[in-house]
Amino acid sequence: MKKNVLILGSGGREHALAYKIKQSNLIAQLFVMPGNPGTAALALNLPGNPSDAELVKTTIFNFDIDIVICGPEVPLADGLMDALSIASWDHKPILVGPTKAGAMLESSKAFSKEFMLKHSIPTAAFQAFTKDQEQEALEYMSLLKPPIVLKASGLAAGKGVIISPDHHQAELELLDLLHGKFGAASETIVIEEFLDGIEFSVFILTNGTQYALLPIAKDYKRIGIADSGLNTGGMGAVSPVSFVDEILLEKVRSQIIQKTLDGLKKDQIPYQGFIFFGLICVQGEPYLIEYNCRMGDPETEVVMPRLKTDLIELILAMQENRLDQVKIETDPRYAATIMLVSGGYPGVYEKGKTIQLPTEGYQNSILFHAGTKEQNSILTTDGGRVISITSFGNTKEEAVDTSLDLAAKIQFEGKYYRQDIGFDLS
Ligand code: AMP
Ligand code: GLY
Repeated sequence: MKKNVLILGSGGREHALAYKIKQSNLIAQLFVMPGNPGTAALALNLPGNPSDAELVKTTIFNFDIDIVICGPEVPLADGLMDALSIASWDHKPILVGPTKAGAMLESSKAFSKEFMLKHSIPTAAFQAFTKDQEQEALEYMSLLKPPIVLKASGLAAGKGVIISPDHHQAELELLDLLHGKFGAASETIVIEEFLDGIEFSVFILTNGTQYALLPIAKDYKRIGIADSGLNTGGMGAVSPVSFVDEILLEKVRSQIIQKTLDGLKKDQIPYQGFIFFGLICVQGEPYLIEYNCRMGDPETEVVMPRLKTDLIELILAMQENRLDQVKIETDPRYAATIMLVSGGYPGVYEKGKTIQLPTEGYQNSILFHAGTKEQNSILTTDGGRVISITSFGNTKEEAVDTSLDLAAKIQFEGKYYRQDIGFDLS
C-alpha cells in the first residue's frame, strides 16, 4: 500500500527529506507544510504553521495522511505529537517525532544533562542553576578551568551556548543570561566543563527499542573561516567523517545510543522518531554534548542523499518493530553541502534579494532551498540561510569543489559562504 506523507517545516532539512521520500516506491502523495519553493517542485505545499495542532489534525484528516514527519523542534517541544496521539482517528497516522516528554531531551538542557548523568552517558561535568541561585552559580564557575561553557537551558535557536575565554567574561555572561538574555529559555542555565576535541553528528531513527543508524556527518556551525566568529544554524556539512572509524562508532553505539534508549525506557519516556546526538571525540572517546529530537540542518542535506535505503520503508519498520531487520545501505561516495547565506547573517540581514540560478550545469549537485520565496516566477532570498548546495565526490575534496563551483555561479546581492567546509578532516 502506497502512503500519503506530510512533512512539517520549511527549511533545507525539510527539502532534503522531501527529496529522499519522493524517490520511494512506497509514496502516494507528498505534502509539505508550509514548505518552500524547493519543496513545491516535489510536493504539494500547504500553507500553515506546524505548531498549530488543530490545523495539522485537519490536514491529516482531509488528505488521508498515513505518515507525519516533523522537521523542526519547536512543534515537538510545544506538544504537537501529544495532541496528534490522543486525537481519535479512524486511521491513525504514523508519527515521526517524539511527544513533549521525549522532546525535552532537546528543549531542556538541564533535563538532558541530568538524564545523561543518571544513565551514565559520558558528557562534560556540569551543574544547573536557576535565576535565584546566582551566588551558587558564580561559586561553581570559579572552580572550573577556562574556557567556561554557559548554556541557556531552554530552546534558543542554536544561539544559547556561550563559551568564555576567562572567568571575568564568563561572570558577565552569566549575569546577562540569568537576567533574561534569552527570556524564559535562560531562566535556568547549565554551566559546564569545556571539552577539547572534534565534533560529529550521529542520527538514529528509533521506536524507543530498536534503532537504525543513519550516515554520520559533521557540520560547520561558525560563520567564519576555520570555525571562527559567531555561531550560525550551520554553514555546511560533510558525510562520511574520516575520523569516525568502527572502533569509535562501536563506543558511540554502546556508551551513548544504547544507554539513551535504555534510559528512556527506565524513565518511561516513549520515543518515536529521530534522535540527533551532537558528539565530541576527546582522545578517542566519544562524549555527548547535546541531544536534538529531530534531524540536523544542514546535516540532513548530506545524510539523506547518502542514504540508499528507502526512508518510508524505514519508517514502516520503525512502526512495525522490525528496524533491526532492515539493512542500512549507504552511498560510498562523499557528500558535501555548502550553505549560501545572506550578507550580515547571523546578525542583521536583508531579505528579498533576487536569486539567479545558472540555467544549466549542475547535474552533479542538488540545491536544497533553506530560505527562499518565489513570486511571479522570481526567486528571492527569504532568510539568513538561503540555499544549501550538496554534491557527491569520490573524495571529500571533489565533493566540496563541485559545490564550491556552483556556489560561485549562483548570484544574489550579499551572498556569502564558507569556502573551507571539511577543512579539518583528512
Ligand atoms: P549546542 O547548542 O549545545 O549544540 O552547542 C553549540 C556548540 O557549542 C557545540 O556544537 C560545541 O561546538 C560547543 N559546545 C557546547 N558544549 C561544549 C563543551 N562542553 N565543550 C566544548 N564545546 C562545547
Ligand atoms: N546542525 C545543527 C542543528 O541542526 O542543530
